[in-house]
Amino acid sequence: FPHKLVLGIETSCDDTAAAVVDEAGHVLGEAMHSQTEVHLKTGGIVPPVAQQLHRENIQRIVEETLSASSISLCDLSAIATTIKPGLALSLGVGLSFSLQLVNQFKKPFIPIHHMEAHALTIRLTNKVEFPFLVLLISGGHCLLALVRGVSDFLLLGKSLDIAPGDMLDKVARRLSLIKHPECSTMSGGKAIEHLAKQGNRFHFTINPPMQNAKNCDFSFTGLQHVTDKLIKHKEKEEGVEQGQILSSAADIAAAVQHTTACHLAKRTHRAILFCKQKKLLPPTNAVLVVSGGVASNLYIRRALEIVANETQCTLLCPPPRLCTDNGIMIAWNGIERLRAGLGILHDVEGIRYEPK
Ligand code: KG4
Ligand code: ZN
Repeated sequence: FPHKLVLGIETSCDDTAAAVVDEAGHVLGEAMHSQTEVHLKTGGIVPPVAQQLHRENIQRIVEETLSASSISLCDLSAIATTIKPGLALSLGVGLSFSLQLVNQFKKPFIPIHHMEAHALTIRLTNKVEFPFLVLLISGGHCLLALVRGVSDFLLLGKSLDIAPGDMLDKVARRLSLIKHPECSTMSGGKAIEHLAKQGNRFHFTINPPMQNAKNCDFSFTGLQHVTDKLIKHKEKEEGVEQGQILSSAADIAAAVQHTTACHLAKRTHRAILFCKQKKLLPPTNAVLVVSGGVASNLYIRRALEIVANETQCTLLCPPPRLCTDNGIMIAWNGIERLRAGLGILHDVEGIRYEPK
């Protein structure tokens, strides 16, 4: 009985990541190169720069992964690689590199959907059966889906504009939290969470968006603009220049965090009720998985816990290092697909990826 081993490769955004995972969910080895520092300097990701950095690092990252795993490429059952969604230029580097290996070592290739990988990660760490509900919230993702099988997803809701982490990052930037002595090294979302603890969430009221929308979609740009306006107003009132820290910054952080939590909780509540009514989820003990960088926010998590309790669901979050982009989730998705016999390509000759 051959023991399945999959190499996973992820280059969809700004992390070059790889891992080897076995059938039992053991991580044999992993390696990652993050481009965050470079992109912070340019105030965002410049795709050709990301592509160049992926090219410079991918070989080393894969070699480090294999040597940490103490295996050679010949031992692999398959190679799994993110092919979408993401930045085309970044995705191309991982795909070209993988196809080379696949051709050279005659291995099966498993194309991976990045969101499917995020959603299935919980099955690596917990015994979770299908179906379950997943809420993915990060700087780039915002979606709510019913996971019915390895590649059987029902999309229930998504952000109509930006992701919640992106909104929190923008508000943090507008509040100049990078200059705050306690928050200078934190991501925008983490800085908001930190400051909110010192603030009073009742001091300002920011209404949740889409209160009358009869669906499970999300929206965060309205929230961002209302907060911008509030900040501008307080700057005038406090006689503070833009770029300096407001004395009401903590209260504003608390209000925006509260409204974000309410919005996420309400839409998730709707989705659970909908699924139960349509008998898509069991009436009790259904599982709600929350993942992505924003899921590390404890205030938001508590709001979702209340929703879970009220609807007799169990809330599960993967550990933080598996919530954000990584190679392990790609390799694990490869294992899941191998076991289900889904989407495994045995002949990739002729498949070429030529990034522009
Ligand atoms: O999953 P992730 O590392 O990367 C992607 O966006 O793909 O998520 C990063 C996002 C950032 O927007 C960051 O501000 C947010 O997650 N974040 C948080 C917290 N920690 C990170 N948002 C709210 N509260 C936090 N504690
Ligand atoms: Zn991601």
